[in-house]
Amino acid sequence: MKSNRITNLLGIKYPVISAAMTWVTSAEFVAAVSNAGGMGVLGPNAGQKEKASSAEDMADRLTKEIRIVKELTNKPFAVNYIFPMGGASEDPFTNAVFEVLVKENVKNVIAIGHGVVERELKRLKEHNINVIYRDLSPTVEKLVEAEKTGVDALIVTGYEAGGHMSDFKISTLSLVPQVTSLVKIPVIAAGGIIDGRGAKAAFSMGAEGVYMGTRFIATFENPASIETKKAIVNVKSEEFIEFKSGAGHLRTIPTEAGKKALELINQGKPQEAYKYYGEGFKIGMLDGDLVNGTVSVSESAGGIKQILTCQEIIEEIVQSIG
Ligand SMILES: Cc1cc2nc3c(=O)[nH]c(=O)nc-3n(C[C@H](O)[C@H](O)[C@H](O)COP(=O)(O)O)c2cc1C
Repeated sequence: MKSNRITNLLGIKYPVISAAMTWVTSAEFVAAVSNAGGMGVLGPNAGQKEKASSAEDMADRLTKEIRIVKELTNKPFAVNYIFPMGGASEDPFTNAVFEVLVKENVKNVIAIGHGVVERELKRLKEHNINVIYRDLSPTVEKLVEAEKTGVDALIVTGYEAGGHMSDFKISTLSLVPQVTSLVKIPVIAAGGIIDGRGAKAAFSMGAEGVYMGTRFIATFENPASIETKKAIVNVKSEEFIEFKSGAGHLRTIPTEAGKKALELINQGKPQEAYKYYGEGFKIGMLDGDLVNGTVSVSESAGGIKQILTCQEIIEEIVQSIG
């Protein structure tokens, strides 16, 4: 396939990026995506089995993971960068990640937040780091504003996406073309894309790259438990449960913990519900406990029928895009 602004910006062969996903990325997984010509992204808790005890501990672990990626591939990769949120002017974890990026000479970040934080963008750009911005509750207006800050590219995420879901139920099909009509910087589409057909649709709407989470969980290289991968392969799109929690909207395969959380939220007991979904991602996705954990997925997970290699997924997309 031809190069475009995303492949040129990132120095990659194909504009297919595996998403940052808490707990379910690792150096081996990221390197597999990058070695297949796409770009892997280290998410929070990448390669870990337990939470870091402090920002310093997290930084040490991230440094180790980045070094393993560099041993496994000489291709570009990125790190997830969480802008300070909730009105905070800075965050010790974000500061620690920044120091690691500079020391390890990391070239690309996928930055997330509820708006671009200018101080963060400035210091990342001072170190020539490519900043791809993904808003957590995107609207057309917010993304037009984000472009003005000087980020290098935008990830436009529709409500189909797995993980922390937007406060606005705007689908990928609605949001991507509206944004590509108005912004000049390159756009990467996210949310519900699981194969070449979805990627082709995204490209026909003006996107120049795809950012895929759920599809890449059901791969041989992903660190998620085999039980979780099988649950993704077996779920039907009408079976999901969805609820609005303190941590945003969540869609999960209907595990016992997910059902209990939904019940408690419906009873107006969000605090009690939290104990069922708070640590749920790790328990459900990494440990594979489909009773006590949650399995956060894309609305398109029903269309995932097989565990594949990262390379097979990328090759099929590249062939479809042509
Ligand atoms: C289990 C899971 C965990 C996620 N955790 C994060 C995260 O820590 N940081 C982040 O930026 N996005 C996170 N996301 C969102 C993804 O980066 C991406 O936007 C999303 O998966 C794209 O939608 P898709 O799953 O339909 O492909 C997560 C997604 C999933 C499925």
